[in-house]
Amino acid sequence: MAQTQEKILILDFGSQYTQLIARRVRECRVYSEIVDSAMSVADIRREAPSGLILSGGPASVHGDGAPGCDPGIFELGIPILGICYGLQWITDHFGGRVQPSGSREYGQAVLRLVDPENPLLARLPEESRVWMSHADEVVEAAPGFDVIASSDRVPFAGVCDPKRRIWGVQFHPEVVHTKYGKRVIRNFTRTICGCKGRWSARAYVEVATEEIRAQVGEGKVILGLSGGVDSTVAAVLIHRAIGEQLTSVFVDNGVLRHEEAKRLLEVFRKHLDLNVKFVDAGEELLDQLAGIEEPEKKRKVIGHQFVEVFRRAASEIADARFLAQGTTYPDVIESSGIGKHADNIKSHHNVGGLPAELGFEALVEPLKMLFKDEVRALGKELGLPDEIVWRQPFPGPGLAVRILGEVTPERVATLQQADRVVIQEMKASGWYRKVWQSFAVLLPVQTVGVMGDGRTYENAAVLRIVQSSDGMTADWVPLPHKLLGRIATRITNEVKGINRVVYDITSKPPSTIEWE
Ligand code: XMP
Repeated sequence: MAQTQEKILILDFGSQYTQLIARRVRECRVYSEIVDSAMSVADIRREAPSGLILSGGPASVHGDGAPGCDPGIFELGIPILGICYGLQWITDHFGGRVQPSGSREYGQAVLRLVDPENPLLARLPEESRVWMSHADEVVEAAPGFDVIASSDRVPFAGVCDPKRRIWGVQFHPEVVHTKYGKRVIRNFTRTICGCKGRWSARAYVEVATEEIRAQVGEGKVILGLSGGVDSTVAAVLIHRAIGEQLTSVFVDNGVLRHEEAKRLLEVFRKHLDLNVKFVDAGEELLDQLAGIEEPEKKRKVIGHQFVEVFRRAASEIADARFLAQGTTYPDVIESSGIGKHADNIKSHHNVGGLPAELGFEALVEPLKMLFKDEVRALGKELGLPDEIVWRQPFPGPGLAVRILGEVTPERVATLQQADRVVIQEMKASGWYRKVWQSFAVLLPVQTVGVMGDGRTYENAAVLRIVQSSDGMTADWVPLPHKLLGRIATRITNEVKGINRVVYDITSKPPSTIEWE
């Protein structure tokens, strides 16, 4: 990102909520970046932040190898806010006392203002609901720090050293359960740090366009277009910056949704004016999948074939030096090692990407500092149709991970029809945008049914409709029974080969979202 704009750096101690802090700051229209808590003060100074936020984290300041920051941050002369572990580390550093809370405090608490005049607490009511999640707590504030808020169990729920301009809170203002949390973040970023709030999708288009031009110059760029919101927004943004220097490659691998390739091509070419190289590799892939039942093997075949097809298509574009991808900020954070203090390091297969051996000189990743909702806002700003902006995630291996056992052309056609019904009904009822994913799975398990006067012996379909914020965990959605009934009736009436529909009522964990 451009160094010129105002920004807040978030020094990460590994809290599961660190990404939320970054999002809340950006919701105040201030750009934020997450960096490792141990970043040197020289590096921090180079970023010229308007303020620092020290995140929470699972460690104890008394533990072996407890993480800390470069103490030089206190000489920078910019405001600092410590949250949970961040507060405890600051307190310990300046000679206050931190001790185990007895039992771990997790959940709601009532915050009471001790100093309502403090700018961090401006426009908060005397009492309000906050979210606590900590094992240690401050039992004696460090010299120079005043108490500005407390709760029943935590006397030092908020502290401030007005001279050094340091604040600390034991509760988590970044989570939605803290009623006035966003106001606290706004007070810190806008009032205390003095940020003007100029971060927006529109501003980002300008900055990103310049950066893309500076990076690629006259070079040619290739991008793998899937039709998902990330790759499409990346393509449109890059196209806006460098026009015909960008070629997008769109592959129909034969396991897309009903008429998806046709519809998407029309959007790409007619509405978005993209230069798209279309490769129809459907038959080729379905041939390779014949006889394969094992899920991991299916995935390998599909992944391998995609790389091959992409390599062929790319080799036909002379002098392409750059590969563009729609990588987003959560992918970057997860793979960068920031948050290495986190207790539960996540592994995630949703981080797509083409292998390095494709031989490109460099990657162009214009969304890599954006969260999903910011990518959507950018898509809207760039004039993408709602159909793309609000698309639910769709796995790279497509319907193949939603057909159990062997993937055959007949089974793909059957599932496409069932999937079409689910999407139509979810959209018509207004539920499509309210959930993370909604789809059908084909079970090659035949059961007896009756239709008209005859017996049937057909397959079952599962409806999988889940809510999630990032796909890492998910809850099944209690859809209205009427809607579930309508979907089931339509599938059994309209889709040949399915005579039974069941609803999946498991969450993730212990299940996964896809069935495979
Ligand atoms: P699971 O089934 O592991 O899925 O709970 C979590 C999320 O990831 C999506 N998914 C994929 N996305 N390539 C992708 O781009 C894949 O191979 C892939 N497999 C699963 C899934 O749809 C869900 O949103």
